[in-house]
Amino acid sequence: MPGLKKYQLTFLLAPAIYLVTARWTPRTDPASLPPTGDQAKFVGAAACAPCHKNIYATHLQTAHYLDSRPASAAAIKGSFKYGKNRFVYNDHMEVHMEKKGGGFFQTALFNGNVMESEAFAIVIGSGRKGQSYLYWDGDRLFQLPISYYVPLETWCNSPGYPSNMVYFGKQVRGQCMECHGTNARITEVEGKGTIFDSASIRYGIDCERCHGPGSEHVAWHTAHPGEVTGRYITNAAHLSRQQRLDACALCHSGFRKEFAPSFSFAVGDSLDNYSTADYDTSATATLDVHGNQYGLLTASKCFRFSDKLDCGSCHDPHTNEFGQVAVYSARCMNCHNGVAQHGCTMPEISKQLAKAAASSVPTEKVAHAVNCIDCHMPALPSNKITLQIDGQDQPVHDLVRTHRVAIYPDIAREYLSEHGH
Ligand code: HEC
Ligand code: HEC
Ligand code: HEC
Ligand code: HEC
Ligand code: HEC
Ligand code: HEC
Ligand code: HEC
Repeated sequence: MPGLKKYQLTFLLAPAIYLVTARWTPRTDPASLPPTGDQAKFVGAAACAPCHKNIYATHLQTAHYLDSRPASAAAIKGSFKYGKNRFVYNDHMEVHMEKKGGGFFQTALFNGNVMESEAFAIVIGSGRKGQSYLYWDGDRLFQLPISYYVPLETWCNSPGYPSNMVYFGKQVRGQCMECHGTNARITEVEGKGTIFDSASIRYGIDCERCHGPGSEHVAWHTAHPGEVTGRYITNAAHLSRQQRLDACALCHSGFRKEFAPSFSFAVGDSLDNYSTADYDTSATATLDVHGNQYGLLTASKCFRFSDKLDCGSCHDPHTNEFGQVAVYSARCMNCHNGVAQHGCTMPEISKQLAKAAASSVPTEKVAHAVNCIDCHMPALPSNKITLQIDGQDQPVHDLVRTHRVAIYPDIAREYLSEHGH
């Protein structure tokens, strides 16, 4: 079918396609909206390095910092090698991942004829679990049909995409970059959707996403080297618990309906003034583990019966601690040491902990004390993020740590039998 234009392939093959995309509906004429953040005040992490050397060094290793980047050989995790560079939909349709002329492309073929070829422009995902890719069409961004799934080291159909066709038509809204970047100048244009100023995009979830733009802080402290109190910068540690939670919930509370422009929320603001949950917040059983750590955590007893627990009780926002179960378990023990505080009541575990306490064996030497996580915050399958993998009939469910800290008796039994009890 040569001669077909962009999107016609999609249109021809599935006229009834319906992909849900969260979008912000402007209340007023877009031209009258305030700019999305004061662009000129952002200076980037490197400007913080001279005075916050350690935080800067560990920040560069975090999933946040690496979460979005311009496309490059280093950023794209998938393989472009022959034999590993294709995704096959059926006998007629496939997509090839190609390196040509210094660029990277996804090329759709129908019965061997090239239908559409678009360049990887932006990589979303640090490579921790998965990556999706965006391409430019003028000043609009679209998501490429093929994503990458890290646990199986394979290209896959982008999550939520139809399984019987190549789809290039999913336009990227401001909210996508709001959760996956630090700042961008965007405008909503009737009939065109979200327009991005490409030069304004600040990639990655950088210092200034959580602390606000830093130019005044840097200027002040550069001019006043003796100053020991931080000025002109936000530190969530000094805010209320709800403000601290909202600073993370902006991105970690599932899909929300926005009624203010993307990027207008700043740390310290109340999230409910900007958006509202797009799901039933009282039905915790139905909350998806993907992307809704806030909803699940706030439904947990740890949260409800403590007036101080927040994301920072277990997470260091500046350090990559992925997979360090013992580090996390030590943080549980800050509130559950089993001596002065309420501890684990599973007999196998509490016996071990009591024995260790009596013989003054350091807790970190007790087998299961170093892993409270696998029993109380197990990795559970997401129903939102399911992936269609080449050569597999059944969709693969991504596994995400649930943040509903609770007792999971079956999972606990299974864990013990796998670990020699
Ligand atoms: C010229 C030195 C300098 C630079 C550059 C600098 N800071 Fe600071 N910053 C300080 C000093 C001094 C303090 C006060 C002591 C402290 O808390 O470490 C501070 C404190 C802070 C605080 C804590 C404020 C509080 O109220 O608790 C944050 C957050 C912060 N800086 C973030 C940043 C970020 C983000 C950047 C880069 C955009 C940056 N700083 C660049 C010197 C600097
Ligand atoms: C601007 C949106 C945004 C904000 C604000 C944000 N996060 Fe994230 N966070 C993300 C995204 C996106 C990822 C996935 C990163 C990746 O791997 O590509 C992530 C990943 C994480 C991870 C997993 C990283 C790992 O190595 O296991 C943790 C933990 C986390 N965030 C905690 C927090 C906490 C705590 C806060 C508040 C202090 C916060 N986030 C604020 C968007 C955000
Ligand atoms: C995901 C959000 C996030 C990012 C990204 C982030 N911070 Fe922070 N930062 C926080 C939070 C939350 C606190 C408060 C921690 C607490 O409760 O003590 C904090 C605290 C601080 C402090 C106060 C001192 C301290 O050690 O707690 C400084 C200084 C600071 N950050 C600098 C930076 C710099 C510089 C960067 C980038 C190189 C950065 N932060 C990136 C969330 C973040
Ligand atoms: C409401 C905020 C939000 C929006 C909107 C959003 N994401 Fe995410 N996304 C997240 C968070 C938070 C994570 C990581 C946490 C998790 O998996 O639970 C994530 C994870 C991902 C990952 C996997 C990265 C990893 O390794 O964890 C990819 C890829 C991704 N998102 C792509 C996209 C794309 C593309 C869009 C827009 C078309 C989008 N997301 C819209 C918040 C969001
Ligand atoms: C800031 C303190 C704090 C931290 C940190 C904390 N908890 Fe809790 N947790 C509580 C409180 C308070 C309760 C409710 C009262 C009680 O049971 O002691 C609770 C309850 C629980 C319960 C009972 C849940 C139920 O539904 O019956 C479990 C299990 C639990 N916590 C495990 C953990 C694990 C595992 C961690 C670390 C990943 C952790 N907690 C971290 C304070 C905390
Ligand atoms: C009681 C301790 C605790 C609290 C509180 C907590 N987390 Fe976590 N979180 C964990 C543990 C443990 C993991 C698993 C770490 C790992 O396997 O690397 C985790 C993992 C994550 C991940 C990665 C999930 C995945 O499987 O991809 C994200 C994102 C995250 N946390 C965000 C948050 C946010 C946002 C908050 C606040 C709303 C929060 N967490 C509060 C303990 C906690
Ligand atoms: C092998 C799985 C497993 C491990 C490992 C484990 N727990 Fe438990 N935990 C359980 C089970 C099952 C229960 C419920 C036992 C019962 O019926 O009372 C429980 C109960 C609890 C409770 C109290 C519940 C209540 O209602 O009073 C807390 C708090 C707790 N665990 C914390 C921890 C902490 C902290 C760690 C790490 C030091 C840990 N657990 C390690 C399985 C485990």
